[in-house]
Amino acid sequence: MKILAVDTSCDESCVAIVDTQSWRLLADVVHSHVDAMKRFGGVVPEVASREHLKALPLAVEQALETANCSLQDIDWFAVSDRPGLIGALLVGVSYVKAAAFALEKPYTGLNHIEAHLYSPLLSTFEGGQAPAFPWIALVVSGGHTELFHVKNECEYEWLGGTLDDAAGEAYDKIGKVLGLGYPAGPKLDRWVRESATDSDRNKFAFPVARTSEFDFSFSGLKTAVSVEVGKQRMSDPRRLQIAASAQEAILEALCTKVREASAKLGVPQIVATGGVACNSRFRAVLREAHFPAPRHCTDNAAMVAALAAVRLRQGKLAPSEWTQTPSPRADFGPTLS
Ligand code: KG4
Ligand code: ZN
Repeated sequence: MKILAVDTSCDESCVAIVDTQSWRLLADVVHSHVDAMKRFGGVVPEVASREHLKALPLAVEQALETANCSLQDIDWFAVSDRPGLIGALLVGVSYVKAAAFALEKPYTGLNHIEAHLYSPLLSTFEGGQAPAFPWIALVVSGGHTELFHVKNECEYEWLGGTLDDAAGEAYDKIGKVLGLGYPAGPKLDRWVRESATDSDRNKFAFPVARTSEFDFSFSGLKTAVSVEVGKQRMSDPRRLQIAASAQEAILEALCTKVREASAKLGVPQIVATGGVACNSRFRAVLREAHFPAPRHCTDNAAMVAALAAVRLRQGKLAPSEWTQTPSPRADFGPTLS
């Protein structure tokens, strides 16, 4: 069985093809819109939608060519249909629905965060081993900071999430006020890694929010950094100290909550994924955790294909209704329907 998966939840047009018999990833195409967004200093939702319209058909073509097959060979389509930028999601969902309908094949709309959650399984397509269940898993991206108890391949419980900004959003905004340009998260990571000392990292005691149990909050940190940046003329050493100290505050919040969840639930295996899990300092300080390869942490469609393949293997892949529509919301957590 060949599954073609599409992800257009943010600013990357992603297409992957997986063969469930041989358990191999046949194609994994990621077309980034980073060049189109640079001049805006961030993701503009309308621009992302228009970029997807241009890039997605080309990405599908490229994936089929790499997998050495045609659209007619695809048995099942999968697409991220929540959460994300609604206009961007609509492009991927409409494309997949149209293709599946025309070819009289089923399609399944999947949760993008759930796909991130199971990204450690991607190594199994390369003959590797995924960490054994259960996991305490943290999905840290530009739009989400969510903590889960993952009991098995298709069974997980949401434990908590951010009350305001995501960790990636904090990285991007802090990097932006420090003049690092776009995308600021990876730039801040590299700059601090290459230039900061331990004393730079401890220079400012930025606030780490005291949220209840497994929740997070990063908006206060963002404000504290902006206030500090505005205080004095910005010399380069001070900018570096602010960047390094702010990163420590973000990572302290993440590591503390993950470790608390692990101890409280008696689940030693920790997994961290999502774009922020590419961060080199995070990987160094949360030493005990499993981090998927960086290309599996950032947005990709291979993780969506993997989620569909795992559900199929468990007999739990259900076709979605043609009337199912995308949603900007994640649909988990007590405040979500
Ligand atoms: O998972 P992802 O690719 O897309 C979303 O679903 O949001 O995550 C993107 C986020 C951005 O906020 C980006 O700045 C952040 O992940 N990011 C990083 C690093 N690489 C990506 N943040 C800190 N350090 C990095 N190395
Ligand atoms: Zn993502």
